[in-house]
Order: sequence, then C-alpha cells, then structure tokens
Amino acid sequence: MTRFASETLFSPSRRSLMKLAGAAGIGAATALTASSEAAKAATPTAIDPDAIAIMSANENPYGPSPKAVEAIKAEAANLYRYTYPTVSKFAEMVAEREGVAPEQVLVTNGSTPILAAFSDWVNVKGGKIITSAITYEGVPRVAEQAGTEVVYMPLTQDMGYDMEAIAARVGPDTGAVYLCNPNNPTGKTIPTAQLKAFVEDVSNKVPVFVDEAYLDMSDDYPGNVMSEFVAAGKPVIVARTFSKIYGMAGQRLGYGLMPADMAMDMRMTGRLSNVNYLGLVAGMASLEDTEHFEKMRATMIRGRQKLIAMAADLGRPIAPDPQGSFIYMDVGMPAKDFAAKMMDRGVKVVGERWSDLPNWTRICVGLDHEIEKCHAAAKEVLTSI
Ligand SMILES: Cc1ncc(COP(=O)(O)O)c(C=O)c1O
Repeated sequence: MTRFASETLFSPSRRSLMKLAGAAGIGAATALTASSEAAKAATPTAIDPDAIAIMSANENPYGPSPKAVEAIKAEAANLYRYTYPTVSKFAEMVAEREGVAPEQVLVTNGSTPILAAFSDWVNVKGGKIITSAITYEGVPRVAEQAGTEVVYMPLTQDMGYDMEAIAARVGPDTGAVYLCNPNNPTGKTIPTAQLKAFVEDVSNKVPVFVDEAYLDMSDDYPGNVMSEFVAAGKPVIVARTFSKIYGMAGQRLGYGLMPADMAMDMRMTGRLSNVNYLGLVAGMASLEDTEHFEKMRATMIRGRQKLIAMAADLGRPIAPDPQGSFIYMDVGMPAKDFAAKMMDRGVKVVGERWSDLPNWTRICVGLDHEIEKCHAAAKEVLTSI
C-alpha cells in the first residue's frame, strides 16, 4: 500500500526549476560561508528576490552554529581515519546529557537510519506497528516495504494522537508503537502526563518509539524528553537529529537512545556503519554551543509564531498549537495544486504528502523575508480560488 505521496523535489514550472537550479549552484559554492554568516546575523545582508524560498523540508534556514563550522574546517584533513573512537566520544557526551549509558546510544548519519533500523528490527521480531494516520513516514513506510503491517489510528478531533485508542489497540499482535512528538506534520505535542503514563504502561507490553526530532523547539522542552524511560531500562527508543534546530541537515548526524541489546542488534546489521567524521565534530561543537542553541530555539519559535499569524491573516485553519518548525494548514484546495502555484511564485511548500488530508499543506519556518514572500504568494493564490 502506498500511503504517503513521495515528496517531489521539484515543482512543475520551468521558470521555477531554473531559479532553483541557480540557487543550488550558488549554494554549493558558498554553503559554509553563507550558513555561518546567516548564523551570525539573523538575516543575510543580501536578499535575492529571485531565490526560491524553500519552506518544505523543515531545515533550519539560519544554519549551524558557527562553532560547528569552525570545527569542520579545523578537522577536515583528519577525515581519512575511521570514526570508531570519535563515535565513542560523541556517544559518551550524549549519554551524559541524556542520563543514559553510552551503550544505549546508537549514533547514525541523521536519524532516518534509526527509524529504518527500528522498522527492520520489528519486522524480524514480528508484530504490527501501531501509529497515527497522519504522522512522519520514516517508520511506517520502511515497515510496509519490509512486509510489516502498520495500523494507522485516526487523529483526535483536535488533530492529536489518540493515545487512548492506541493504548486500547495494543494487543498480542502488536510489535511496537511509533509516536512522533511533536508530530510531523501537525506540530502537536502529546500532553506530558498522558505521554508519560502511556510510555510507562505500554512499554511493559511492547517497545515504544518516540521520535523527538522537533522537541527542542517546543514550549515545554525539556519537560517532554522521554530518555528517563530508556535510563530506567524500559524498551523505549528515543530518536534525535541534528538536522533541525542544529541546522546540520546536509551534514547528517543523529542518534537513538534505546536498550543496549537493541542498539547492538542494530549495529550488528552493519548497515548503519559508519558515522561521518565531520558530522561528529560539528555535532560535538554544536552541543557545547548552548548559547547558539538557545538563540536558535528562540528564533525558530518566533518563526513559528509568524507562520501562525500568517495563517490567521489568510483566514486559513491550521492544526492547533503547533510546536515544531512548521504549521499544517488547510488551503481549501488540493495541496498539490497549491504547492505548484506557490512554486510559480518562488516559494516551495509541501504538496500532497498525507493523502488522508489532501487539502492540507505543511509550511516550514524560513528566514523573515521568505516568510513575507510566502505570505504574499499565499494571499495571491488563495484569493484567486
Ligand atoms: C519527525 C522526523 N523524524 C526524523 C526525520 C529524519 O531526519 P534526519 O534523517 O535528517 O535526521 C525527520 C525529517 O524531516 C522528521 O521530520
């Protein structure tokens, strides 16, 4: 079953393609400088009105910590070595921060490999994966490809995970539960007390995976971090990524916290080997740069508020109380048509990706001028319906 539309990287118009190609070319040549400059100053000095505003992929448009960029520059010549000792060093650093043992940390190139490895792990152990009808596809898509049945539970009225229904559905045929908190694409978080009670209870029956890709941008961070259950030895898996708030989507780094034997199972498949050196050094520098982290947290929250205000001005409903770096908006027309029209106006947003809600689009935080461009373009598109 193909439940998730594959996100098209490019949109239909030739003019748009040319612009995107131009932007990518310039980006490739100046990526490090541009992102580090962007990180120093909240907005770049030169704004190219013809550049595509990419607001579709949940990246951090402000880029990585300047200290991460410095670390990459300083260490670039050392990438001829395998990274085993650096992975251990990084895992120790993460373990200390998260209150778990280093053997419970599985380090990967981005968090996608953790999601895929988990899907494969469930496939080997057997049982269905229960998740929500509208959620990030990393686990369910891989699971279905491997032949694991996925049970999609409907969202609640207010577009949250229906935790009671999921808990009630867990039974002898269940292999695991996948939760994304905040959820992608709705941005909703699961109420803390409900989430903790669920994880505590359900993990006595089956492994519970909590994808925390956007948690550090939510209002109640670190209140909703679930690593305490991993530390307590429960079959709970927490996935984290450096692609979002740390602005390292193109460098690739992520990690999972899980029982040590599960981490070993996944390591032993050999498919996750080996993590890239420059990602690790940049990741360690990022973790140390708490000032930049706090700045990015405030900046992304401010961007999210701007998107919420944009939707209000456009008179369009959104999934309530978004807590990630995006809003999920009902555009009142097929999202794929909306995305194509937006692309013609130089703004890339998600087209139809969650087929249950064909009129809903996800729009991610951009730089201030990109949000303004998006706002103006959406106004034009929506008033012409
Ligand atoms: C909820 C969620 N989890 C995981 C990922 C995977 O990101 P990465 O592989 O870049 O860490 C994404 C990417 O968009 C995501 O939205």
